[in-house]
Amino acid sequence: MTIFERATIVLASLTLGFGLCLPAQAAEPTLFDDLGGKPGIEKIVADFLPILQADPRINTFFAKTDMKQLGVLLSEQFCQLAGGPCTYSGRDMVASHDGMGVKSAHFNALAEDLQIAMENNKVPSSVANRLVAKLAPMKHAIVR
Ligand code: HEM
Repeated sequence: MTIFERATIVLASLTLGFGLCLPAQAAEPTLFDDLGGKPGIEKIVADFLPILQADPRINTFFAKTDMKQLGVLLSEQFCQLAGGPCTYSGRDMVASHDGMGVKSAHFNALAEDLQIAMENNKVPSSVANRLVAKLAPMKHAIVR
């Protein structure tokens, strides 16, 4: 083996070795990450519920609701929707809103209240809009 061949082999193994040792390229942050992970989402939901309850446009809907349980379910749902490691364990959107008479204006009011909760938590509007965009397609199941 010539010195050149030997050098080529050494170089090739070094390159391969470095390649294998390099960490995999960091994944793009998901919406879940941008919302602050589970603690971030739980904090947003915890702040969202009292805003809902104080909103005269929609608070009568929640008069008999177990808000603690709703908070748990919303946190699961937002986490899952945002690409986080959660599984929503509640009822589907048709079943949970059936016969309530939720109208478009109510839906928009709730979305506005969620935006306020995110603003209060310093969630950038670009991130907040991404979560709202995930919720928007549920409108047809909730407003009937
Ligand atoms: C994107 C919008 C919405 C989402 C993601 C959402 C999500 C949820 C979830 C996850 C639950 C719990 C389901 C379960 O109990 O298994 C729920 C229940 C409920 N939602 Fe919504 N909801 C939305 C819009 C609305 C609107 C606009 C209203 C009325 C203004 C409303 C009123 C209620 C009420 C009153 C309950 C509790 C029902 C009960 O006490 O059994 N929701 N919602």
